[in-house]
Amino acid sequence: MLSRVSGHFREQAQACASLGSPMYADLVARLADDIDAGGATAEVLQGHEDDPGPSALALRLAGTVHRLVLERRAGELATCYPSVGGTWDLGTAWPLLERLLRTEAEAIREGLDQAPQTNEIGRAAALVGGLLRVGETYRLPLRLMEIGSSGGLNLNADRFAYTGGDEVLQGPADSPVRLTDCWCGRPVVPWPDLEVVERLGSDLAPVDVATTEGRIRLTSYVWPDQHARLERLRNAFAVAEEHPVEVRRADAVSFVRDIELREGTTTVLWHSVMWQYLDPSDQQAITARIEALGEAATPGAPFAHLALEPARRTPEADHEFLVSLRLWPGGESRIIGATGGHGLPTTWE
Ligand SMILES: C[S@@+](CC[C@H](N)C(=O)[O-])C[C@H]1O[C@@H](n2cnc3c(N)ncnc32)[C@H](O)[C@@H]1O
Repeated sequence: MLSRVSGHFREQAQACASLGSPMYADLVARLADDIDAGGATAEVLQGHEDDPGPSALALRLAGTVHRLVLERRAGELATCYPSVGGTWDLGTAWPLLERLLRTEAEAIREGLDQAPQTNEIGRAAALVGGLLRVGETYRLPLRLMEIGSSGGLNLNADRFAYTGGDEVLQGPADSPVRLTDCWCGRPVVPWPDLEVVERLGSDLAPVDVATTEGRIRLTSYVWPDQHARLERLRNAFAVAEEHPVEVRRADAVSFVRDIELREGTTTVLWHSVMWQYLDPSDQQAITARIEALGEAATPGAPFAHLALEPARRTPEADHEFLVSLRLWPGGESRIIGATGGHGLPTTWE
């Protein structure tokens, strides 16, 4: 039912407007009109009429077109994409995009089958803020273990600069990644000599950020007029180039099963915006392993579970992006902050 698909595109267009992408608000609404008119968009989407809403068809299509732009395969359309120096203008872009939907139909159809995959650097603000909260109790060297790491860029989060006004609150002042005005609410307690002695990521489909293909993949799903997100991503690639981090191809359950604690260090298992992709049985298995690691923790080998995930505070409440922390020995569960989907700013409680 194409009217269902165009309805999904219209909802996505509104979401893009409220999440700060006027360009995608325009573009996705125009695609919806073209679906209703039975144009090139309707043709390229044939076979996807019954896709469920959460498969984010509009973002798959927009992301695939953006990838073609980044790969210099979209001709003059690039002049309308701010991510490659262009200026967005719907009137100029539409005929060029309509042509692309026909000339690159095969590549676009292939792209529609891929799940959008991002690695959101702004979420490091929530994760590192969580580490500072751990540091209020234990100031041992840290081991960072992550599930759903994507490209693993946030495993270098301690190498980013976290600022408030002109002041660097945490991290090296000369870092190419600067998360500006990243924290509000309860004041953070800086940890100047925070040391990460081990970092290891995992993902069902890891993105190799050492390759052009991997970098284009992650960039293509960032909305092209969101300069700050694009800049953070580019700069995080630079940090990863200097400090490559291993991201294992592994499902979250088996990765967590292999985690052990180590004396003289705090082991941290963290994740951001990945829990919703796990089957309930996998969520249960991971939670059971977290409890077991918590039981095994001692003051000489503490364990922390730090998460930034969409969740509700109460069954009736709306979803929020909540930062939660459990720290063992003890293991009391606490919501320590809340943020937007892209992590900035994080408000501490
Ligand atoms: C929305 S992305 C978030 C990536 C990253 N954590 C961030 O915040 O930018 C979700 C990631 O979870 C991964 N993922 C989904 N299901 C998984 C599973 N069962 N085990 C491991 N990773 C999984 C996906 O491949 C994807 O890279």
